[in-house]
Amino acid sequence: MPPDAASPADYIGPDSGSLLARAEFDRLSDRGRRFLGSQVAIMGGAMSWVSERTLVSAISNAGGFGVIAGGSMGPDALAHEIAATQALTTRPFGVNLITMHPRLLDLIQVCLRAGVGHVVLAGGVPSGAAVRAVKDGSRLVCFASALVLARRMVRLGADALVIEGSEAGGHIGPVSLAVLAQEILPHVTEVPVFVAGGIGRGEAILAFLEMGAAGAQLGTRFAAATESIAHPRFKQAFIHARARDALPSVQLDPRFPVIPVRGLVNAGTQAFLRHQAAAMASVDSGELTREQAQLSVEHFWAGALRRAVVDGDVEHGSVMAGQSVGMVTAEQPTVEIIAELVGQACRAISARHDAARH
Ligand SMILES: Cc1cc2nc3c(=O)[nH]c(=O)nc-3n(C[C@H](O)[C@H](O)[C@H](O)COP(=O)(O)O)c2cc1C
Repeated sequence: MPPDAASPADYIGPDSGSLLARAEFDRLSDRGRRFLGSQVAIMGGAMSWVSERTLVSAISNAGGFGVIAGGSMGPDALAHEIAATQALTTRPFGVNLITMHPRLLDLIQVCLRAGVGHVVLAGGVPSGAAVRAVKDGSRLVCFASALVLARRMVRLGADALVIEGSEAGGHIGPVSLAVLAQEILPHVTEVPVFVAGGIGRGEAILAFLEMGAAGAQLGTRFAAATESIAHPRFKQAFIHARARDALPSVQLDPRFPVIPVRGLVNAGTQAFLRHQAAAMASVDSGELTREQAQLSVEHFWAGALRRAVVDGDVEHGSVMAGQSVGMVTAEQPTVEIIAELVGQACRAISARHDAARH
């Protein structure tokens, strides 16, 4: 990094194009940057077991916006994680909470007490009580996977939306970002809308900004960052995988719904198919009730993400990853990932300026 760069995010690489290009990129993402309070409108999407103090602070310190994954944490653990993150960065970051957490309202209070400026509510439409609680001192970010849902979230009081396409890693909806962006961005202008799912390069971020997005949220590219605490085998699996290896979980029988999760195909995904087949056979033979079988299907993956991320069991654990995994080619420092994304966007703008001049 050049010594005169004011911060890591100001450095956009030796062939990154002109300052004019950077000014244009910043102008396009101005709404998102102002909403997040960050230098670049790139959010590090919360990833359970991965998005903790180290990665979250690294993303925010690099000029992006880190988000802690609340996951199954209780109030004390969350308070501890927020304080530890605040000790590592003075920049803004957010906290992602799951709406069905039994202590959601307590967790929101923890965020407010700690002065967290942005709370992301994931996992469904939040209750009115949760919305009011967040907005009592923080900004509310909600997910929307369809235009009607986006409109509903805005009516409910969301201050910003993340529209996440089915290319993303983790729990996914059925529609790709390419389509969601066209369906939602022209019509939802009341609040900033961030795009997520399958984004691995800066040119893509630029294209979505030009369609009206306020910024982008990336998960997969940050999971293998140097500061990610994920097990080295988890990171290696990302580095070696191609887009086609990151597939949604398969549901064998409509009687037993499976929430689609995108991850790297491994021995665990094969075992899941066998498990579903066995559950169906037990219901057909009267050995299990339908409810018992459904529960056993749902429980199959319990603890599986932790097994992959923390223990490094990438064969039997759940290696959640988006299709952008093919663009993860090395373990890189977070600051380099963000600089690379900004540089790619700026070089694309510069190339247009050059083409217009000739
Ligand atoms: C390993 C992993 C775990 C994730 N866990 C969560 C989570 O706990 N809560 C959540 O809202 N999203 C979760 N996500 C989704 C990310 O926050 C983000 O929206 C997504 O990764 C963006 O798509 P991309 O993976 O193509 O970049 C997870 C994604 C991955 C890859």
